[in-house]
Amino acid sequence: MRILSGIQPSGKLHLGNYFGMMKPALELQRRGEAFLFIANYHALTTVTDAAELRAATHDVALDFLACGLDPDRTVFYRQSDVPEVQELTWLLSVITPMGLLERCHSYKDKLARGIPPNHGLFAYPVLMAADILAMQTNVVPVGRDQKQHVEVTRDIALKFNNQYGPVFTVPEPMIRDEVAVVPGLDGQKMSKSYGNTIEIFGPPAEVRAKIMRIVTDSKTMADPKDPETCNVFALYRLFATEAERAAMAARYRAGGLGYGEVKKALAEKVAAHFAPLRQRREELARDPEFVTEALRRGGERARTEARRTLAKARQAVGLE
Ligand code: ADP
Ligand code: TRP
Repeated sequence: MRILSGIQPSGKLHLGNYFGMMKPALELQRRGEAFLFIANYHALTTVTDAAELRAATHDVALDFLACGLDPDRTVFYRQSDVPEVQELTWLLSVITPMGLLERCHSYKDKLARGIPPNHGLFAYPVLMAADILAMQTNVVPVGRDQKQHVEVTRDIALKFNNQYGPVFTVPEPMIRDEVAVVPGLDGQKMSKSYGNTIEIFGPPAEVRAKIMRIVTDSKTMADPKDPETCNVFALYRLFATEAERAAMAARYRAGGLGYGEVKKALAEKVAAHFAPLRQRREELARDPEFVTEALRRGGERARTEARRTLAKARQAVGLE
């Protein structure tokens, strides 16, 4: 089974990215052949400062390596080291109906937020389809917000295969229900564009202060509370064992538990979880060669795969 996912280097990684995409993708390293890449072509749709893009690319590579990405096991690369995906994007673009892209929520959301639409932003899902199809991917672990893009990829792959013969593996999205949407400080989806994130490698004091600011309802300490609708509990459960989760839920329902206490418990869990990863990240940051070399090797492996797919696609459409 081939697993592939990508992340844009367009900001510091937060708990939503970690539970929605990184952790599932890293766990799958053991279950199949994993491909993980840094979507720097995609990031160009929003990041316009070259130094910022370079720094963010290096940062996201450090984040993944610190969180347990094993570059011997996983093909870890920068999207731009596989320029074949660009040619494949064109071969897919010419069979992609406009309507399919016009329906994409992520594009519509960006428009609604006032981001000036450029062609890249509109065509973004076709590039994403090329990333996935170039590697003949079976499974794409992503958060729920990316599901539609994987569905678009499936539509494009099926259409191409119908028209030209079986060139592409048709992929499936993989979404973990319990972490489908990690809420942010204000209860909306945690997202860097909403300014409601808890960064996984943020300064510990800042992380704690943010946790203490998570929005809750106005019930008093004595009131029984519903864990299922509480933003603090939604985050706590991601770190807790089954038994801890059940015990905390029971205390919510019984009353006598203040939100402040749950926030403190959550802050401790977050700190303990990320402390060893933070240490590993600091060690890696002192060895930039290791990071560069890991990405270079990954890029070569990914490119070999993409060349093979592109050759088939070029043949199928009549360029060869
Ligand atoms: P952001 O919304 O902060 O810009 P991205 O869109 O770059 O995040 O998302 C990168 C990956 O992390 C995607 O696979 C996405 O589905 C996942 N992800 C982002 N935010 C969340 C969230 N709040 N809950 C679950 N998964 C998320
Ligand atoms: N669009 C994804 C995001 O913003 C990143 C991405 C680009 C991706 N290409 C991909 C994810 C291919 C999975 C597979 O999160």
